[in-house]
Amino acid sequence: MPQPLKIAVCGASGRTGSRVAALAAVDPRFHLLARVGRAQASALEDEVGACGAVIDFTAPESCVRFAAACGRAKVPFVSGTTGLTQVQRAQVAAASRKTAVFMAPNFSRGVTMLLHLAGVAARHLPEYDAAIVETHHKAKKDAPSGTALRLAQAVADGRGGDGSAPTSSLRIGGVVGDHRLALAGPFDLLTLSHSAQSRDAFALGALEAALWAARKRPGLYDMLDLMGLR
Ligand SMILES: NC(=O)c1ccc[n+]([C@@H]2O[C@H](COP(=O)([O-])OP(=O)(O)OC[C@H]3O[C@@H](n4cnc5c(N)ncnc54)[C@H](OP(=O)(O)O)[C@@H]3O)[C@@H](O)[C@H]2O)c1
Repeated sequence: MPQPLKIAVCGASGRTGSRVAALAAVDPRFHLLARVGRAQASALEDEVGACGAVIDFTAPESCVRFAAACGRAKVPFVSGTTGLTQVQRAQVAAASRKTAVFMAPNFSRGVTMLLHLAGVAARHLPEYDAAIVETHHKAKKDAPSGTALRLAQAVADGRGGDGSAPTSSLRIGGVVGDHRLALAGPFDLLTLSHSAQSRDAFALGALEAALWAARKRPGLYDMLDLMGLR
């Protein structure tokens, strides 16, 4: 059996990071080196070389800093943090020249399949109007969700970069994450939807991504690569 992958989890007291840390702690494929909160963030940046991979579910500014530290130390970086500006995304992506950087707005396999199917449907129904509705819990900071933005991108990509999908965001109760893509023609309506039942869908996906990224050359990867859907 291979050596367990040494990981640090950034945002380990948060809603998602806490599930990543909890699942890693009982999985023999991982050695949980560090649970990183705000207080440990500077120490991680100095000592990141001890890790086999870093998993981040924090906030845009910290995501950029952790990515840079991983790039310098050539440690694979896996991030689910959303709400990054274009500049911040480019800053995180810059680390991929030196190490594997795995960024996904949604680590669930179901949403990854939804993105794939959305591209196929948009390509084959070019005249249908596309629209997205996403629903999340009240504490979510960004809107539209990173997944909704990626879904709109999948529609545009399926139409050769031509086409938009207006998005509505609802922030209610404790909803983990629902996404619905409607493609409406004059006489029928196709709906593709996904509902996350537990944050463990994201946590498990991020752990699989860390194992996968740890074997990869420097580059920028996402769940479509991991699932062979690119
Ligand atoms: N890709 C996916 O599958 C996926 C799934 C779920 C969520 N997300 C995204 O992941 C991010 C976190 O979501 P969440 O719901 O888990 O949020 P959360 O419950 O607010 O957790 C965020 C965690 O990050 C910590 N943090 C914030 N700034 C930090 C910093 N500068 N240094 C170190 N730690 C810092 C917070 O610490 P404090 O408590 O001290 O502030 C908190 O523990 C969001 O961007 C969300 O959209 C992605």
